[in-house]
This record gives sequence, C-alpha cells and structure tokens, in this order.
Amino acid sequence: MSIKTGIVNGVATIEIARPEKKNALTRAMYIAMADALDAAVADASVRAVLITGQPGIFTSGNDIDDFTKRPAGTESPAIVFMKALLACDKPVVAAVTGAAIGIGTTMLLHCDFVYVSDEARLAMPFVSLGLVPEFASSLVVPLLMGHARAAEKLLLGDPFTGADAVDCGIANAVLPAAEVAPHARRVAERFNALPPGAVRDTKRLLRRARSAAVLETIDAESTTFAARLQSPEAKEAFSAFFQKRKPDFSQF
Ligand code: COA
Repeated sequence: MSIKTGIVNGVATIEIARPEKKNALTRAMYIAMADALDAAVADASVRAVLITGQPGIFTSGNDIDDFTKRPAGTESPAIVFMKALLACDKPVVAAVTGAAIGIGTTMLLHCDFVYVSDEARLAMPFVSLGLVPEFASSLVVPLLMGHARAAEKLLLGDPFTGADAVDCGIANAVLPAAEVAPHARRVAERFNALPPGAVRDTKRLLRRARSAAVLETIDAESTTFAARLQSPEAKEAFSAFFQKRKPDFSQF
C-alpha cells in the first residue's frame, strides 16, 4: 500500500509513500486517501487531518500510466478523493516538500493550512499534458490570485516556488524542509485544545460562499477532462513522458 495512515495525538495522518514513482497517485491510492478522510470525519477522537508526502517529494500528481487505463463511464477515484476532501469537516493541514504537481497543487487549494519547504516546486501543467484544470482549480486559482497570475500557472503551466505559493494565497508559510512536517503537525495538534463543534461550524462557514460553485466546477471540469484524456494531444503527451522526450504538438 502506498498510502500510510495512522492516528497520533488526535491527528489522522495520510502519508503519500510511493517514492520510487515520485509519489504518483494511482486509483488505489486515491481510494485509500478518500477512505482515510471519511474515517477521520467519523472518528470523534480525530481533531484534525495531516497530509504529507516523503522528504523531498509531495506528489508528482496523477499516475500518468493510470491516465491511459482509466475505465470509461465510472466515477474516477480521483473525483471520489476530491469529494472526500471537500466533505472533510475537520481542519486539514498539508506539509509539502519538493514537487507538488497537478493534483499535488490543486488539492492544496482545499486544505485549511499549507506549509511548504523553501525548495518546494508547485505546478499545474495540465495543458502540457493535453488536459484541462481539475479540482476546481479553474475557479479557485483566479479567485485567489487574479486572472493574470492564474493564466501563467494554468495556461502556461509555469512552475512556482513555495514563496510564490505564499504570495498567491495558496500556502501559509515557507519553512526549511526538515521543519515543514513537524510544524504542520504542531498546527494540527492545536485543534486538540479547541472546541470541535465551533471549529467544524467555522470551517463550514469559511467555505460556504464557494462550496456549491466548487462542486459545480469539478463536474464541468471532469467532463472536459475525461474527453481530453482520449485526445490525440494527451496521447502524444503521455507517450512523450514515458519515452523521456519532449512532446511534439506541431501536427495538431
Ligand atoms: N506518473 C507516473 N510515473 C511517474 C510520475 C507520474 N506522474 N511522475 C514520476 N513518475 C515516475 C517516472 O516515470 C520514473 O519512473 P522510472 O524510474 O520507472 O523511469 C520515476 O517516477 C522517477 O521520475 P523522474 O521523472 O525520473 O524523476 P525526476 O526527479 O527527474 O523528476 C518530477 C520528478 C516529479 C519533476 C517528474 O517525474 C515529473 O515531472 N513527473 C510528471 C508530473 C506530471 O506531469 N504529473 C501529472 C500532472 S496532471
């Protein structure tokens, strides 16, 4: 299993642990993360959730091989994970070191606290893969930082640093890599001393204005995303990734 879970001192931890593939997320990993989030919601002893990767890699995003094998007509496990994260009524803290690509960045838009290392590299390179934004990033990214900076990140897919992520409102703070996970855990553990009902209601109110629009955007994005997965552009991008060459989009 490439997702490790556990509960320590009131904090449910979801650790992405597939370093040999840069923590790329498979269908089984999305389901394991969704199950862990659902269990955290149901367990009254859990006061917060902590999502971490491995030292030097948060996640390289969706497993590109899995993209090519996705069964048509079923709800994708990635969407099941997205909905579980949105339904989590307890604070979610993310600890990000190294690369956070694709859903590695877009999931951060739906966490409550995000701590990043000084060497973190975030990116949403959906277009370069022949795809479109997911996890309501087409809505939330421009809301957070304005269209101009959103276009750099979503149309060009430009990578950005942890400091940029703080500047854009995606992350709370940049820390030295070794301090990111301990700091994130300390923040999560603060909820042991706070009243859980007030925390839950406040989280709901903080998200209320955009929660319906987020779900509606995920639906709209996922229809286009599923169609784009079958496109010749995406097929060329995936082949190029595994052949370790630059994609050639000149014929489209
Ligand atoms: N899906 C499937 N396999 C992946 C992967 C992904 N998203 N990301 C990395 N891997 C695999 C590589 O194919 C390689 O496998 P191999 O050892 O069998 O050849 C292994 O993980 C190591 O990756 P590599 O690219 O050699 O590591 P790196 O340190 O040079 O680069 C990244 C790390 C994360 C920058 C780079 O792997 C990358 O850009 N990954 C793809 C990110 C992406 O486009 N994700 C989808 C977003 S929607």
